[in-house]
Amino acid sequence: LKTDVTIIGGGPAGMLLSHLLGKSGIKSIVIERKTRSHVLGRIRAGMLEAGTVDVLRQAGLADRLDREAVVQEKVHYGYEGKETLVLDLKAFTGRWLTAFGQTALTEELYDSHDRAGRQLFDDVSDVRPQDLLLKPFTTFTKNGQRYRVDSEFVVGCDGSYSVCRNTIPKNLRREWVREYPFGWLAVLADVPPMPQLFYARHSEGFLLASKRTPQLSRYYVQVPVKDAVEDWSDDRFWKTIFRRLPKTYHSHVTTGPSIEKSIVPLRSYISEPMQYGRLFLAGDAAHIVPPTGAKGLNLAVSDVYYLHRALDAAYNHKDPTMLEEYSQTALRRVWSAVNLSWRLTEIMHVFPGESSLEAKLLENEFDLLLERPCKQAALAQEIVGLHL
Ligand code: FAD
Ligand code: DHB
Repeated sequence: LKTDVTIIGGGPAGMLLSHLLGKSGIKSIVIERKTRSHVLGRIRAGMLEAGTVDVLRQAGLADRLDREAVVQEKVHYGYEGKETLVLDLKAFTGRWLTAFGQTALTEELYDSHDRAGRQLFDDVSDVRPQDLLLKPFTTFTKNGQRYRVDSEFVVGCDGSYSVCRNTIPKNLRREWVREYPFGWLAVLADVPPMPQLFYARHSEGFLLASKRTPQLSRYYVQVPVKDAVEDWSDDRFWKTIFRRLPKTYHSHVTTGPSIEKSIVPLRSYISEPMQYGRLFLAGDAAHIVPPTGAKGLNLAVSDVYYLHRALDAAYNHKDPTMLEEYSQTALRRVWSAVNLSWRLTEIMHVFPGESSLEAKLLENEFDLLLERPCKQAALAQEIVGLHL
């Protein structure tokens, strides 16, 4: 097989890249390790930055979003025993967040891929990108048969355990890692959500109330990393929500049976650079952030936006400058999101073994936010995200 760009990984990063390249007349083949139904069954992120929505709209991918998504103009931050900080994103920035599930976005991307008749191989194994400095080709196995795709470029959109990233020689890249000593229990429940997007720090741990649609709630609570989903009955989960949520908000919660539960570990991970010869990385393949800032999916979209623009300039206008600068351009945004996600994670969680001094300083950080509109304005800007 032969194409312009081989895309390894059919998650949101890979599928959006294929879509955007297609619009610029650049051919691609997507290679995905899991089955299509597995990919479409995954429940992950849910809050989109304003710039992410702009990219989807310009790409003609916002029909369902415009019908179903819920606009979130404010973010509420509770801190046990204190006044709730209501951060008015719209007042500070003129922009807001949009609640639209990654699952729905991925469905849209697969549907449009089908309509455009672009090629995708799912349920494959032993994916090997090779000869990445000169004439790239990628081999993989599907239904017992070995395939080879030759292409001008290979893009690794293959998530946190990226095979593509690991083909970059160790001595040519640098990694930063932080594993957090807790995880999030994520629950999807078929009940109307709280109207507010609510993050709370309670002495027992973190809580986040979010949504997918006006009928579908998404909640997260901080749990020890060693916990298993089986440790968390629905009853235990809802009791935890009511303990951690300020009493004034209790009347906004509708309880009901959960329809999905999982435990997500929290970590920060960055690998630099995001390029090696004719291989480029995008999304989780290059960086992971703890979900407190809701940045993971948004960074995948911004990487792909920069990369598709650079490939378009290189292919259609014979200008390779943006491609040469891709890693630098993408990483500037990545580090800002890593920074925000790290700060919010520190302030809003309870760290086992935390010293009383650290706890007091983090509390002071919250007090400063409550008191100072200039700090609120800066936070609001970071949350809605930079313009793309
Ligand atoms: P992925 O979505 O991981 O897609 C990568 C794709 O590559 C997958 O389909 C995978 O099967 C495929 N693949 C992997 N290896 C290979 C290979 N060798 N060959 C071919 N294909 C391969 N972010 C938030 O902002 N908020 C959240 O609440 C949140 N919750 C999350 C919960 C979980 C359980 C996880 C894992 C992540 C969560 N994230 C969250 C992060 C967010 O979902 C990711 O940042 C986003 O999915 C990144 O998209 P991606 O396309 O880069 O990677
Ligand atoms: C959601 C996830 C997040 O990580 C976050 O910070 C806000 C919302 C969500 O899944 O809705």
